[in-house]
Amino acid sequence: MDEGEPTFVVAGDEDSSSAGWSMGWSPDGDEDIRDERLRLSDVGKLARRARRRVLRVARAEDRASFPKLLRSHLGAAVDDAEVIEESWPSYDQVNVQVGLDRWLEEEGREHELVGLAHFRHREFGLSDLLRANDFDYGPTPGNVSWVNLPSGPDGEVVRAVRAGLYLVRDGDTRVVVLVLTGDPEMDMAAVQLQVAADHPGAAARTAAEVRALAVEHNVFRGQVISFGRDVFGERAALLQFHRRPAMSAGDVILPEETLAMIRRQVVAVAEHRTLLLAAGQHLKRGLLLYGPPGVGKTHTVRFLCSELTGTTIVQLSGSALSLISEACSVARTLQPAMIVVEDVDLIAEERGMHPGQHPLLFQLLNEMDGLAEDSDVVFLLTTNRADVLEPALAARPGRVDQAVSMQLPDAEARRRLFHLYRRDLAVDESHLDSVVERTEEVTASFLKELLRRAALVAADQRAEEVGPLSVSAEQLDAALDELLDTRNAMTRTLLGGQRARDSWADGPDAD
Ligand SMILES: Nc1ncnc2c1ncn2[C@@H]1O[C@H](COP(=O)(O)OP(=O)(O)OP(=O)(O)O)[C@@H](O)[C@H]1O
Ligand SMILES: [Mg+2]
Repeated sequence: MDEGEPTFVVAGDEDSSSAGWSMGWSPDGDEDIRDERLRLSDVGKLARRARRRVLRVARAEDRASFPKLLRSHLGAAVDDAEVIEESWPSYDQVNVQVGLDRWLEEEGREHELVGLAHFRHREFGLSDLLRANDFDYGPTPGNVSWVNLPSGPDGEVVRAVRAGLYLVRDGDTRVVVLVLTGDPEMDMAAVQLQVAADHPGAAARTAAEVRALAVEHNVFRGQVISFGRDVFGERAALLQFHRRPAMSAGDVILPEETLAMIRRQVVAVAEHRTLLLAAGQHLKRGLLLYGPPGVGKTHTVRFLCSELTGTTIVQLSGSALSLISEACSVARTLQPAMIVVEDVDLIAEERGMHPGQHPLLFQLLNEMDGLAEDSDVVFLLTTNRADVLEPALAARPGRVDQAVSMQLPDAEARRRLFHLYRRDLAVDESHLDSVVERTEEVTASFLKELLRRAALVAADQRAEEVGPLSVSAEQLDAALDELLDTRNAMTRTLLGGQRARDSWADGPDAD
């Protein structure tokens, strides 16, 4: 039962006075039997009907409250006040609140916040609250309900209103702002601001100012965020914050020219933004990293994220790929930005109604195309199935400016990877040349696993329990034997050994 109701419950409504009603209802004799039937089947119904009637009377008094409140705040303007409605996607609720808070804090403004009771599962707006009509089951003034919304990767939150009415005094102007947030059950996954004021134009001005502040102080700006979908099937897009990876160039073992090419396209364009714009050059760019599994595509993406401090990074993957237009909208608003779509071949495989159609991939390419040339937005795509992607990209040139092939590490790279992943482990390197030779055709992640495997072998065979681990040349060989062993063929495929390379179809050439 809703709050407030107990006061109005009819005496005897549930169990005490059933006999009295049934007697009056019975038209003819045999009252005992009828009485009995009524008790069983109709008493509950009658009682509910009676209760509803009494409650309606009680609510009629309550419901005057919002119109009264608004009339006392806005004065006579209430009768023809214009209501301005602004709608935002639900993931932007945190920014709406931040914008609103900033606006309320500005010099010369005072406000009072009134909560709403009985507002769930109902459709209503500020215009309903302004008017004293027969709005029977409408909301009434009540407690403000709040929700803590994430605003950063380290547990930062913003306290946001779920439903509330701000009564604002701004000099001699009176403004009211109704905040309503999505009710997923009602398929209303959006945030609404509805504004009215006692001066013409003040409501529209307020809405525009709040929107501008919400963009200016947007909590996603300069962060690494990703879009996902709720596992329980809620329609709203879920947005998560991530810590920006901390990496240095030494962590990425790639041929010098490959890394230089990627950095020039992604980082250097951002650095020379002003110069390029002044020279009429475009900033928008698309980069595709392709190559077999385990060669460092994701690793490179992480490195670029760490380099681009201050750039908003929007990641999309898996089930969230259909949120590409939301991601683009965030990127456009918060540029400089980078949109990362990993394993973009998954999008390409999402077939349309007809063979050869890739609705999501085309949507992505269209979004890339739709962004203004001078937007400082990078599209960074990765795939290990360039063959799947090639026809679509070839059909729509200009979206991807550069396709970078990432290949299995050569001997020199394998040696560097060995040293990178050795980290603090003491390893007898007297057999290193043979290890490098024997690991031809393996991936970077294979070498990383080799060092861990060697550490495990050494830990297993350790005689004394004290001191740091150290790996002998023989133990290193044993670990490599183990990994290369045909019995580990499965692991090898997963980590990207010979088989993965065999199944790798050549992709588009880097230009
Ligand atoms: N070039 C590299 N330099 C240093 N480490 C690397 C490199 N490539 C891969 N690694 C290591 O191997 C791990 C796996 O690589 P990564 O996830 O980047 O592969 P990928 O190319 O994205 O593969 P997939 O196609 O399966 O997504 C990385 O986390 C990293 O530790
Ligand atoms: Mg990857």
